[in-house]
Amino acid sequence: MPLSIVILAAGQGKRMHSDLPKVLQPLGGMTLLERVVHTATTLKPDAVHVVYGHGGEQVPAALKHLPVRWVLQAEQLGTGHAVMQAIPAIPDEHLTLVLYGDVPLVHKPTLQRLLDSAARGALAVLTAHLTDASGYGRVLRDEEGLVRGIVEHKDATPVQLRIDEINTGFMACRTSMLRSWLAKLRNHNTQKEYYLPDIIAMAVAEGVLVDGIEATNASEVAGVNDHQQLAVAEATLRQRIASDLMQRGVTLRDPARIDVRGRLDCGRDVCIDINCVFEGSVRLGNRVHIGPNAVIRDCEIGDDTQVFSNCVLDDARIGARVRIGPFARIRPESQLADETHVGNFVEVKKSHLGKGSKANHLSYLGDAEIGRDVNIGAGTITCNYDGVNKHRTIIGDGAFIGSNSALVAPVTIGKGATIGAGTVITQDAPADALSLARAEQKTILGWKRPKKTL
Ligand code: UD1
Ligand code: CA
Repeated sequence: MPLSIVILAAGQGKRMHSDLPKVLQPLGGMTLLERVVHTATTLKPDAVHVVYGHGGEQVPAALKHLPVRWVLQAEQLGTGHAVMQAIPAIPDEHLTLVLYGDVPLVHKPTLQRLLDSAARGALAVLTAHLTDASGYGRVLRDEEGLVRGIVEHKDATPVQLRIDEINTGFMACRTSMLRSWLAKLRNHNTQKEYYLPDIIAMAVAEGVLVDGIEATNASEVAGVNDHQQLAVAEATLRQRIASDLMQRGVTLRDPARIDVRGRLDCGRDVCIDINCVFEGSVRLGNRVHIGPNAVIRDCEIGDDTQVFSNCVLDDARIGARVRIGPFARIRPESQLADETHVGNFVEVKKSHLGKGSKANHLSYLGDAEIGRDVNIGAGTITCNYDGVNKHRTIIGDGAFIGSNSALVAPVTIGKGATIGAGTVITQDAPADALSLARAEQKTILGWKRPKKTL
């Protein structure tokens, strides 16, 4: 059956104490709402409607790229009222599935169970058993176990408050039925709101089966209402990603200390030490080792490469058998070819290091084109910036740059050239020659150190 999904995201999220609308809070590198939309789209719906309201145009403006229809709920008069805003655009013959923008970790198979039941004509409601059900709507079942209704915490009697089965808020049914029930909703309750769960009692009254489907685990229906719950959701996600990586053969020194805020693809026998953060899209080849405390964003790293502790790698292509760090920083648009070495306190920006080249200590290499088998001595700086423009440094294959050299760009160092230590290069250095630019050493024989005067 064709499917329309309605995601409720108009609430304020007061308990976040944040200027950011709740559904824009980040979870694992994506906003809460993006995560829900992402899961929703895996069900291949014909349309996704997002009901927004609190925070105004901030939400659709921040998430313009999402393939959804934005529906404004100008006043937040309850979950039932929110669905009413979207329903006119949904055809009768569709199934409608209602999701919440602040319940981000639901699994696709669970939603599929709701849809299968709704396709058979039921009003399918997702429930869960919680050890602490306070705040939630409670599921009322009769002696035969059939769902008869839902009572909100604020409207429940003391006996009803002892029920530990809760309404997650996720529901699915045929749109024609939903439309007729929504038209009959009233706001005669403690909160003067139009409650979506009130349609359950209407279904029961009409003899429509209400199918209370239990979630596989409580974590997939956990809502995010405050920063505590956001941290719990982050931990759940971390656990899921870590166990998925380990199942694919990755060694994690501690699965509780890895953060993947995006996509991480790994080859065989990859090993990741503690406290590493992966962002965007990262691809690690076979037998790559990542040391502790690495931050790696949008990188490709070749087979057998080792990244030692405390490195930051951002938007770089890194070859095979490369050694990086400890304490190295590789900035965007950099390429390190196979067998290159970039050591401690070396910063590389928008530069290309050819195969086998080494910059092992204390350097800045920016806007540089470095050939193969080049040795960059400790403390070498490419002076790429004149205060206004950036300029390129070109270093030929096999060049040797002595320690503490400054290469004032634009400049070219020829193939096989040698630059003496401490040189400031301001003109091109020819191939296969030694270039030096520094004051000549003097020795003053018989010179005496000054003595202390009393
Ligand atoms: C709702 C359910 C409750 C359930 C709980 C699960 C109702 C009346 N109650 O309660 O049975 O146990 O969720 O978390 O539905 N929203 C709008 N517009 C509104 C009101 C809410 O878009 O006018 C959105 C919110 O942004 C949120 C979702 O609907 O994503 C749930 O709203 P919330 O106010 O958190 O409902 P609860 O009182 O928690
Ligand atoms: Ca809520």
